[in-house]
Amino acid sequence: MAYPYQIKSEEQYKEHYKRSVENPEAFWAEIAENFSWRKKWNKVLEWDFRKPKIEWFIGGKLNITENCLDRHLTENANKTAILWEPNNPHEKARSFTYKELFDEVCLFANVLRNNGIKKGDRVCIYLPMVPELSIAMLACARIGAIHSVVFGGFSAIALRDRIDDAGCSLVITSDGAYRGEKQISMKDTIDDALLGCESVKRVIVLSRTNKPISMIGGRDVWWDDEIKAAQNIIGDKCEAEEMDAEDMLFILYTSGSTGKPKGVVHTTGGYMVWTTYTFVNTFQYSPDQIHFCTADLGWITGHSYTLYGPLCAGATTIMFEGIPTYPDAGRFWDIVDKYKVDILYTAPTAIRSLMASGVSWFEGKDLSSLKVLGSVGEPINEEAWHWYDENVGKKKCPIVDTWWQTETAGIMISNLAGVTPSKPTFATLPLPGVQPVIVDDKGNELAGGDVSGNLCIKFPWPGIVRDNYGNTERYRQSYFSTYENLYFSGDGCLRDNDGNYRITGRVDDVLNVSGHRIGTAEVENAINMHTGVVESAVVAFPHAIKGEGIYAYVILKGMHIDEDHTKKDINETVSRIIGAIAKPDKIQFVKELPKTRSGKIMRRILRKIAEKNDDTGDTSTLLNPGIVDEIKQGARNM
Ligand code: PRX
Repeated sequence: MAYPYQIKSEEQYKEHYKRSVENPEAFWAEIAENFSWRKKWNKVLEWDFRKPKIEWFIGGKLNITENCLDRHLTENANKTAILWEPNNPHEKARSFTYKELFDEVCLFANVLRNNGIKKGDRVCIYLPMVPELSIAMLACARIGAIHSVVFGGFSAIALRDRIDDAGCSLVITSDGAYRGEKQISMKDTIDDALLGCESVKRVIVLSRTNKPISMIGGRDVWWDDEIKAAQNIIGDKCEAEEMDAEDMLFILYTSGSTGKPKGVVHTTGGYMVWTTYTFVNTFQYSPDQIHFCTADLGWITGHSYTLYGPLCAGATTIMFEGIPTYPDAGRFWDIVDKYKVDILYTAPTAIRSLMASGVSWFEGKDLSSLKVLGSVGEPINEEAWHWYDENVGKKKCPIVDTWWQTETAGIMISNLAGVTPSKPTFATLPLPGVQPVIVDDKGNELAGGDVSGNLCIKFPWPGIVRDNYGNTERYRQSYFSTYENLYFSGDGCLRDNDGNYRITGRVDDVLNVSGHRIGTAEVENAINMHTGVVESAVVAFPHAIKGEGIYAYVILKGMHIDEDHTKKDINETVSRIIGAIAKPDKIQFVKELPKTRSGKIMRRILRKIAEKNDDTGDTSTLLNPGIVDEIKQGARNM
């Protein structure tokens, strides 16, 4: 497959960028021509950030799976689409050619149809990183059902919130999951989540760990049985549903600054064009390469760069079920060596944790196939950047530091591998079509170099979030109300004199723990549910491996047994309400929280204390200035 839109030189980047700003509609129309549409669009773009309403490729008709699968069958039917590496290196790996994947997707799409699922229905997918997860997502897209994939690490309560919010009628899960040495009970979690849930009529269960599980009559069915049944009733062929370019493709929940997760909505045409375009350009993918994105499909990185982007580009993509440190810290290098990986795309937190394990894990591993390295999800610190460059890339692989978000669907700011220069800790330059601006707190645009402020985007790109599921007002408030006529990212950044952007982290109440987005309000709500807690405040603190750790200040009304025990109880509560990923790293019991006279918690002060910075600034305007020294003292004793 050729990519006529692939940028091959720095000059070309500049020229494409200029065109994308001067005439975005012509620019994107030309790129969209490279996809397969049942009917071409009438108009490329209509938008108004004030409403907000954004539409791309208006009137266009397509099915994304015809782009991920069908169109590769003429020339690349036998090319490998997915290479699956199991958690246990001794278990047999699996792989699917484009034709095999096509067949599996059609079969499972018929299973969904046979279970009454039709265009527009919402399907919750809660599966481990097995090929069936990709198959299930694509099968939904094939028949126009909207998938909502929930990461396996979320608790039953978090899962229920997401299922309820989207009004899912069907859930796809497995008996269990393998994760390193652990076995996780996926079905038990689903069973708890579905207690009292009325919308879900059917649960399709894949057998992965063969552990005994409860199967509820009339509701729960086995994946394999359903495949046989659908084959008998419908057969193997599955005509793809015709979708409008702006029909919903999926919902993906992510954290915002309030307690309730946001259902980020992406639609079909723009998402397809954007993820494929950014995949091919950022990583400079060429059709014979092996692409390894380590992200779980439960996150946007997995959606866009393990699945949809690579498959639309006809690439070979690796799905890895396990973790970087199992059975040992050499696992990524084993995989690179085994599959002769060309592109490795991972998160700084993984790099830092492998860095801490030392370089002996590289011994005997051939990494010479690597051409491009990528980083995503959080700022990469200088030390990790150089370690990645020297030990993994052997100083010959460009590193792309890709800044983007669940809401942007694909990479927004990044160097293009080997085409535009990298600069350690800088995401560098915007991709064509992306028009970033830096604003101060009042919304004034800061022009030129050597400036820092809040990162906004002033023009839509094809992958921009289209809605907050079921709550358009929240959509407006989250992204388009802080600054007039701008999309606000929630990130702070600076720009150097060459126009390179460096992302400095969130400026709202969102934490980034091991590259996972977690809202402080969500964690506080969870902590406050513990019977002994009166009030709490959660802030981030710098963490050597996780990037940011969770620091909770908690006012107790009563303790169960002793402090340590109570801390464990609180962690248990947070695990139950959100999931283990949101457990605080540190809990400090306090008598009061520093508050303004109007009762607002002064998080700025709490952040300083958590960072071990004694300079808490002016505290005289507080309702209770005396508490600051007491909290500082408590922090020193921790
Ligand atoms: O703070 C930014 C950080 O991750 C946030 C988005 O998180 P999420 O929606 O979960 O998507 C993660 C995968 C794209 C951003 O607001 N972030 C992401 N990439 C970078 C980054 N921070 C610094 N540098 C990056 N390359």
